Formats: sequence, C-alpha cells, structure tokens
Amino acid sequence: MSRTTTAPPRNRTALIAACAVIVAAAGTAATLSSPARAAAPGCTVDYKVTNQWDAGFGAAVTVTNTGDAVGSWTLEWSYAGNQKVTQGWNATVTQTGAAVTAKNASYNGNLGTGASASFGFNASYSGSNALPAVFKLNGVTCNGGPTDPTDPTDPPGDRVDNPYAGAKVYVNPEWSAKAAAEPGGSRIADQPTAVWLDRAAAIAGVNGGMGLRAHLDEALRQKGSGELAVQLVIYNLPGRDCAALASNGELGPNDINKYRTQYIDPIAGILADPKYAGLRIVTTVEIDSLPNLVTNTTPRPTATPNCDVMKANGNYIKGVGYALNKLGAVGNVYNYVDAGHHGWLGWDDNFSASAELFKQAANAEGATLADVHGFIVNTANYSALKENNFTIDDQVNGVSVRQSKWVDWNRYTDELSYAQAMRAKLVSLGFDSGLGMLIDTSRNGWGGTARPAGPGPRTSVDTFVDGGRYDRRIHLGNWCNQSGAGLGERPKAAPAAGIDAYVWVKPPGESDGSSTAIPNDEGKGFDRMCDPTYAGNPRNNNNMSGALPGAPLSGRWFSAQFQELLKNAHPAL
Ligand code: GLC
Repeated sequence: MSRTTTAPPRNRTALIAACAVIVAAAGTAATLSSPARAAAPGCTVDYKVTNQWDAGFGAAVTVTNTGDAVGSWTLEWSYAGNQKVTQGWNATVTQTGAAVTAKNASYNGNLGTGASASFGFNASYSGSNALPAVFKLNGVTCNGGPTDPTDPTDPPGDRVDNPYAGAKVYVNPEWSAKAAAEPGGSRIADQPTAVWLDRAAAIAGVNGGMGLRAHLDEALRQKGSGELAVQLVIYNLPGRDCAALASNGELGPNDINKYRTQYIDPIAGILADPKYAGLRIVTTVEIDSLPNLVTNTTPRPTATPNCDVMKANGNYIKGVGYALNKLGAVGNVYNYVDAGHHGWLGWDDNFSASAELFKQAANAEGATLADVHGFIVNTANYSALKENNFTIDDQVNGVSVRQSKWVDWNRYTDELSYAQAMRAKLVSLGFDSGLGMLIDTSRNGWGGTARPAGPGPRTSVDTFVDGGRYDRRIHLGNWCNQSGAGLGERPKAAPAAGIDAYVWVKPPGESDGSSTAIPNDEGKGFDRMCDPTYAGNPRNNNNMSGALPGAPLSGRWFSAQFQELLKNAHPAL
C-alpha cells in the first residue's frame, strides 16, 4: 500500500516520527530488492499540500526512485507563484528565487530501486498556491519514467518501468466487503486484489455489481494525487480452460469474433477514455491458455480433446495477440501475459516450448513484443514462493532432489526461481530486457502448524524433500481449493530481482470450482479435481485431489476456504 502519509501532522515531532517509520520501511525495501535490470534513471513524486492558512502552507513530499539505486539524492522544482520555503524537515530544503532544492538528510540518502523517501516543509505565499509541475531527481526529470527512447522494443507512451513502484494498488470494494464480513477478515480487507473480467457482461457489471467504469472511477478516487495501479484480469478466450472444466467460459471454441468485438474492443474503448489516462492499468492476459497448447495436446498422454481443438483452430493465439495489440495501444496499459507456474511449465519439455508460444502469440493479430510489459506466474495457483529447505542442486546420498517423487525431474523448486528463469528465457528470445514479472502470492503461504521447521531427514531424497517442503499438496498438479493452503506474501512492489511485484490476483475466498456438479448459466463445468473424493488423472499422476469439500462454483465466495487461508497464512497475520 501507499507509503504516503496524507494526514496533516499535528506537530513537527509527530511528523518526524511518522517519517522515520516511512524511511525505515523504504530502507527495508531497498535491501530486499535488487534492481531488476540496469535501470535507466526515473522517479515519481507525490507532492501534497497538507494544510494551508492565510499566508502560508505545509507540504509533504514523497519521492520514489524507479531507476538505479542511489546513495544520495537532490530533488528540485520551481514555483510559478511567490511561494517561499521557510522551514523543512527530513531534508535540507533551500530556495533561490523560484527554484527549490531539497537534499537528503544524513539518514535517508540511500534510495534503492522502488524505494521512497519522505520529507516536509512549511512555506509562505500569497495569491494562489499552484502545485509545481516538474520535479527532477539528481538532475533527471520525474514522472516520465525510465523508458529508453533509443530502445525500439520499449513500449510507446510514458509507461514507467515498474507500474507498482511508488504506487498504491486498487482495493476492489466488492471483494473487500466480502473479506471484511468474515470473522477475522478485516485483517486483510484493505489488501489490493484484481478485478476479473471473466465474461462480456462483467464489463457493464453482473447482477447489479460494479462494471469496468465503476471500478475505474473508484480507482481514480482511491488514487487521489498520487499514483495508483489497478489490476484487471482479461479472461474470456474462446474454448476457455480446455484442460479442465471448472472455469470453462461463455465462448465456444470458434467464437473468436465475439471475443474480439464483444469483449476486447469494448474493454479497450473504456481503457482509452482520457479520463483514465492517469491510472496505471495492469492487465493479466488470459491465464491457463497458451501453456495448455503445449502440455495438454496430442501426442501427450495428458491431451484433452478440447485442447486439441484450440491448438488446431489457433484461437488462443489469435485471442491473446488481439488482446495484447488492442490493450497495448492504450498508453497507460501494462500487459502481463500468464506464464503458468513451475509445477506446470518447470520441466524442460514444457519450459522452452511455452516461451516460444508466448512469443508467437505476442506477434499475432498485429501485436508486437513491445505490447508485453511482463509476465505473471502462479496465477490462482498454490506453488510456494520460495522453498528454503532444499534447492534444485541438492543431493542426498549422491541422488539429486530432481529424482524425488515430489520434484520429479522439474528444474525448479519454487515460483521465485521459476519466474526469474522464465524471465531470462523470454529476454533471450527477444522480449524487452526490461521485462518485469509478477507472482500471485494470494494463496501460496503454506504456514500454520504443518509448516516444516527445517529440512527433512537425509535418509533418502524423498524423506529430505517431503520432510522439508512448505508446499503440503498431495501432488504438485493439484489446483482446486487446496486443503492446508494459506495466504502468501502480502502484495509488495519490487520485492526481488526481475520481479515487479507480489500481487493478489486470485481474490482469496473465491472458489476454484464446485465440489459437486452445480447447474449454471456461465458455461462452467464440474471438474472432479475439485471433488475431495476423486482419485485423480494423468495430470496429477493419479493422486487424490486435495480439494476442500463443500465448494461453490468457481468465482463464488467460499467461506471455509477463506478461513483456511487466514489460518495458514505465511507470513502469519
Ligand atoms: C475462476 C472463475 C472466474 C472467477 C475467477 C476469480 O477462474 O472461473 O469466474 O472470476 O476464478 O475468482
């Protein structure tokens, strides 16, 4: 959430105390994050007049460094009126004529990529108190972002490198109300989650709920004078979810024209409204689609007839290309394409073929690689963020952990290592070297009493891995309403190298699918992977599903799952 303090300070001591907290938080972020890439300089500034009286005013300024880490900073601006700084705190603020210079204090000079520093000042003025229009951090103009004009693969417009850096993230009031109504839910009800546009009717709003414009209007309100990212899930491909049944959608396999004209075009039209130009609109583009064409088609033993159809008609590729092209044409949209998770694409056969397919889709229907700002992994899945008790390079009695039943020759043990490797692979294929990754951490916490305290016994690779792994699923291929899962890392900007943010895209508490067949008019089927009595199929190596009982249709509120996620949250609440 925002690091900006908007409440006016009661007195100077209170403000210094508040800012000390902010600076400490920024310092932590700086240690955790390493720059995702050789970042060009960039910055955003939040300048707020906190109180104003006859001849003077107080202001609070937060500067966020979106470029390379710096060890000291100077922020400059000019006033159009006769404002004159009289006193500053948490920075040395001086003024010559109309030009103001704020230099860091001894304790807040270090600004890592994505980190912020805050300071305040009082000033005198008469007449009008217009806000300064241009800020420079260490000589570089802010708000323009670090887009490199000499790099032809940089997207057009003034997109920033990381839309989450220095920004609040939109809190969906509808999800927030459901969370707050649960016992203990108020502890997370203020977290940002994504808005799922999971059918054409969601654009106008389903059953009297908020439509896209209502969400964007509310986003503008939450934004205030700062920066705000709003997260949308684009999820309505023809023949959706071809390897499973729980999230089949409204469009048949051949409905590509409906997808273009009744779904993507109206969304793009709304996003292009100049009214919304100040929002950073982050899209998650079509989860669970392209990788299915690699892993669940003939001649694989996991093939399904529906995935064979979608491969043959090309409508996943066309749909994703169309979406990237139309949405990418809107200057403040940041497209993140779904890239599965390590428990799906982490095997050699799947990894490279999927990356190639992402490239093919990003060149379809008028899209170019520049329409892709990044990729998202683990969307609505449960794969652990970081397994600390074993790595892929460990051996037990000379046997690699890759040979354990759990890892089963996968190259990765967790989402962080997978996301970073997938990023490198995609850049090697020609995607922008500034590519950023998102990781959905809404349900991959695996805390609670079952969380191993340390590595498993070195009796065999299996005892070692099974005794140490945080991910307590029966099998890595289980995906529906998993028993034992908890909330993962809270949403956070620039948490690790190459990662733009940890995000909560799947809203905690929303079901993955019903435990028994439930008639509906959304096109949703009944997938037995959501039935706790089901003994599995080749895609989970014929294991029990691990699903919680009593689940409603996918997307509907599932109180028991919400409670399970709170109970097993890691970090704990
Ligand atoms: C599932 C559902 C979809 C819902 C989403 C978020 O994918 O099919 O309708 O919006 O989950 O909970």
